[in-house]
Amino acid sequence: MVSSIKPIQIVTILFLSLIICGCKNENPLPELGGTNVSNSYQENHRPQFHFTPEANWMNDPNGMFFYKGKYHLFYQYFPDSTVWGPMHWGHAESNDMVHWNHLPIGLYPDSIGCIFSGGAVVDVNNSSKLGTDQNPPIVATFTHHDFVGEKAKSNDFQKQSIAYSLDGGLKWTKYKGNPVIPNTEKIKDFRDPKVVWHEASQKWILVLAAYDRAKFYSSSNLIDWEFISDFGIEGDERLWECPDLFPMKVEGSDEKKWVLIVSIQKDAPNDGTATSYFVGDFDGINFKSDINQQKWLDWGTDNYAFVTWNNVKDRVVGIGWMSNWQYAQIVPTETWRSSMTVPRELKLKKSDTGYLLHTLPVDELKKLRGKSIALGKTTITGEKKLAASASQSELELLVDFTETSAHTFGIKLQNDLGENLIVNFNIEAGEMYVDRTNSGKDKFSEEFYKKIHSAPINFEKEELDIRILIDAASIEIFVDKGAMNFTSIFFPTEEFNQISLFSKGGNLEVIDANIYPLKGIWN
Ligand code: FRU
Repeated sequence: MVSSIKPIQIVTILFLSLIICGCKNENPLPELGGTNVSNSYQENHRPQFHFTPEANWMNDPNGMFFYKGKYHLFYQYFPDSTVWGPMHWGHAESNDMVHWNHLPIGLYPDSIGCIFSGGAVVDVNNSSKLGTDQNPPIVATFTHHDFVGEKAKSNDFQKQSIAYSLDGGLKWTKYKGNPVIPNTEKIKDFRDPKVVWHEASQKWILVLAAYDRAKFYSSSNLIDWEFISDFGIEGDERLWECPDLFPMKVEGSDEKKWVLIVSIQKDAPNDGTATSYFVGDFDGINFKSDINQQKWLDWGTDNYAFVTWNNVKDRVVGIGWMSNWQYAQIVPTETWRSSMTVPRELKLKKSDTGYLLHTLPVDELKKLRGKSIALGKTTITGEKKLAASASQSELELLVDFTETSAHTFGIKLQNDLGENLIVNFNIEAGEMYVDRTNSGKDKFSEEFYKKIHSAPINFEKEELDIRILIDAASIEIFVDKGAMNFTSIFFPTEEFNQISLFSKGGNLEVIDANIYPLKGIWN
């Protein structure tokens, strides 16, 4: 976000850098916190089962780790405004990744700079010696961003630093020797360090984004880092942000591959920002991708900076920021800005076309389901209104292609004002289209409403499963056991209260369909 800065950001940066960076004190510990939120979470467009900050600006998820039964979520946070500014790490924790307790800010800006994105690991063997064997430290890696240096065009204004916590993530101490990775090459975009343990070499590996590539560093103590390699795509100069590297088992086999996630800041499939990934091998030094091109973790416009939790056993789970830098700062919410996606579990599958990440909402989310309205086996010709309210619901649909004669089918959300969001599955084109061009408040940005968005879908099968989560201001679509993810936000003047299925050019044969109302998480 930083290198192609929008005008509004420049104003914010210049103004706030003068007054804020370095001026705030470290927070000793809570005034805030606890299970209850201090506001009603009932404002217009307030998501009911997604994580949002109580107030003010949020972007990327940061520093996520699991420890002693709690999932910790930090996030890029500006506590003084609903637009981006000098970054802090906001903090929340959860037993299930679904219900959240807001906690005091974890990291504050200091004399080196503000706190940009990064990760955190549980240093289980106390390799850093920052804790003890009995009480291992949590070590966070983050970018110190110095606005004054940026303004002076010094080019080394982003550096990597660490902080540690000895109480499971509540209170943090910045390491005295920060930065641990200075920016000696003076790379303007040099940020978002995330760490993973590499079992074979018994080393920590840190990956960060350096303009159009990832750089890898290794360390045995999380403090002294050695540059080992970099990885990029020849001829592709789009800016990378928020990388993540982790091993995964290929489903149904013992094969192990490495996944490198990178968020792309520009010209994603549906414009603006989006999260992508490479599948390949990592030998402790070099990452080699199987193919010379990234795949998209999410085809929608609104899943950025998706990264995974550290120290979760037996599964890979992550979360993304549900917005797009094209319009994130001007969306029509009043007291806060931005939401996270639902937490998602990743699975790596191998097919004729190579390795593919499948991503579905974590199972814990099913706890929110109320009694299902079951449609069972049904034929849809034209449009059928479902006896359910659209907002805060989940739709599971299994389509039978051996019997379906329609060329297009889909799902429509609408309200009494005639505003709608339409998901069209075009069987002939092999595509899904998401149309939010008449979805309500959208005049804040032409980028938001000017296009119908699309994603490829493989319809060459007998059945296709579609799962859709709808909250007040978002839709998350998972097709073919999560092979295709699509996330989109919207701002209807009144909440969408109707949901219907439709078919065009023939009938749609539904094998099974269930709609669940979903409970909110904030009360
Ligand atoms: C991605 C990003 C990161 C940076 C952070 C600043 O959205 O631009 O690269 O660390 O946001 O808030």
